[in-house]
Amino acid sequence: MTEPAAPVLTVIRAHKRFGAVNALQDVSLEAYQGEVLALLSDNGAGKSTLIKCISGIHALDEGEILIDGEHVALHSAAAARQAGIETVYQDLALFDNLTPAQNFFCGREIGFPKWLPLGLRVLDSRAMERQAEEVIERLRVRLPRKDATVALMSGGQRQAIAVARATVFARKVVILDEPTAALGLRESRKVLDLIVQLKAEGNAVILITHNMEHVIELADRAVVLRQGRKVGQLKPRRDNQQHMVAMIVGAEG
Ligand SMILES: Nc1ncnc2c1ncn2[C@@H]1O[C@H](COP(=O)(O)OP(=O)(O)O)[C@@H](O)[C@H]1O
Ligand SMILES: [Mg+2]
Repeated sequence: MTEPAAPVLTVIRAHKRFGAVNALQDVSLEAYQGEVLALLSDNGAGKSTLIKCISGIHALDEGEILIDGEHVALHSAAAARQAGIETVYQDLALFDNLTPAQNFFCGREIGFPKWLPLGLRVLDSRAMERQAEEVIERLRVRLPRKDATVALMSGGQRQAIAVARATVFARKVVILDEPTAALGLRESRKVLDLIVQLKAEGNAVILITHNMEHVIELADRAVVLRQGRKVGQLKPRRDNQQHMVAMIVGAEG
């Protein structure tokens, strides 16, 4: 018998308020290496808030976050990335005035020579462009000219770039907040393939989606939130889909 794996990410009794709104109340969860964990709820139940707390965008009012069993203080998005957490936000967070390659490397530009402190390095824009192109190629997203800024791109193209960026930098935990919401069938399929790949590479993947077919296909486990509270946890299967939906909308006793 092998020891049960320890969680990569642990959230303990998370609380988050926005004024009078209790966006998260006492939410705990674990995510494991090489698994896809779906986070399910109706709109406004706190999914995005939870992943923003894990990604260093919001601070928890109460509760703790552990990575590999160690407490981490995620004071910023950079601190979360440093801890190995890569996130694709629902609201995308690409910079309109930058090209895809510039967006890829924003905040972690490749510079040289390597022996100089970061701020003194010359940006290696060719290397950055090459890496960005490689991944975008893998995704088979058709883009306008590569030097065009993101402002000119469709929702689907932007979403694909954001997912591609997370794949490149994934190290431990990858969080995808409704990554296929703006995508057509063909592009969605690419993103689903990437999720399978991220899982195979040993990441813990947290997937937020309203698409139950995607959940059943990809998720090893699902955590269900309702009005800021965790109401349950289950293994998504076709034969318990009704139960899953009932849990989400609160139609069960
Ligand atoms: N920055 C914010 N300021 C104030 N209220 C917020 C903010 N972000 C989210 N909320 C509120 O918190 C609740 C949970 O929202 P959210 O996490 O976006 O839900 P979900 O992603 O599940 O749709 C909602 O009532 C929402 O209006
Ligand atoms: Mg959301």
